[in-house]
Amino acid sequence: MGAQAGLAVEVVGVDFSYGGLRALDGLSLTVPRGVSFGLLGPNGAGKTTLIRMLAGLLHPRRGTVTILGEPSSPQTAASMGYMPQLHALYGELSVFHNVDFFTRMYGLGKARRQRVEEVLRLVGLWERRRDSVLHLSGGMKQRLSLACALVHQPPLLLLDEPTVGLDPELRATFWEHFRVLNSKGTAIIISSHTMDDAAHCGELAFLRAGKVIAQGAPAQLRAATGRQGATLEDAFLYYVRQGLDRG
Ligand SMILES: Nc1ncnc2c1ncn2[C@@H]1O[C@H](COP(=O)(O)OP(=O)(O)OP(=O)(O)O)[C@@H](O)[C@H]1O
Ligand SMILES: [Mg+2]
Repeated sequence: MGAQAGLAVEVVGVDFSYGGLRALDGLSLTVPRGVSFGLLGPNGAGKTTLIRMLAGLLHPRRGTVTILGEPSSPQTAASMGYMPQLHALYGELSVFHNVDFFTRMYGLGKARRQRVEEVLRLVGLWERRRDSVLHLSGGMKQRLSLACALVHQPPLLLLDEPTVGLDPELRATFWEHFRVLNSKGTAIIISSHTMDDAAHCGELAFLRAGKVIAQGAPAQLRAATGRQGATLEDAFLYYVRQGLDRG
């Protein structure tokens, strides 16, 4: 374990391009353990690219990614639960077997059935466990996708816009559960466009054009504007303007 052992994630000076398109541009970020950490930024800012890199699906052309104190590798990938922005569910399998697939993959052994039941109850899909995924609504697919990411109780969760399409009641339930996970030491990295999600996060990073333009607690970022009653949108614009002034 290196000096970063106390961190869930440390990203230093990472570049990534899709062909000629620079999606991450010298991006650096630190995520403590046991927090919900929000990635905020406009469409195309690089949130999904960063999450896919943390999940080990993309490799930086330059820079380093450290996960739970270890360099990113197939082994560190096993300590994460990843919920993609576009759900990757098996349409030919039932709700139950989609989640069970992950319990097998992570070798959960005897605890399997109980864990599948726990997470399906959590996302309110236990009664639908025998249904084919093809018969679920969009929000239900979203909930199932989250259940798949949670089932092996990883110390780090990567959730790419997990609350899109959720009704307000379920969104609140998710956040209650995220808080419980945080209290057990689980770090949750969550991308979102909603200020409701952002306000629940212990820490946030503002992304723009493949860079982190600010990182801190929501109250800290709002206070930096120097204006009473500033919102997180105000804070984002404040940091964008600061960057433009400097550049
Ligand atoms: N598979 C791909 N091939 C080519 N370019 C891509 C690909 N995926 C993303 N990009 C480009 O990389 C940049 C960052 O995209 P990314 O999906 O990381 O943004 P994002 O912050 O997640 O946006 P959103 O809020 O819309 O989900 C964008 O300019 C996008 O067009
Ligand atoms: Mg995205």
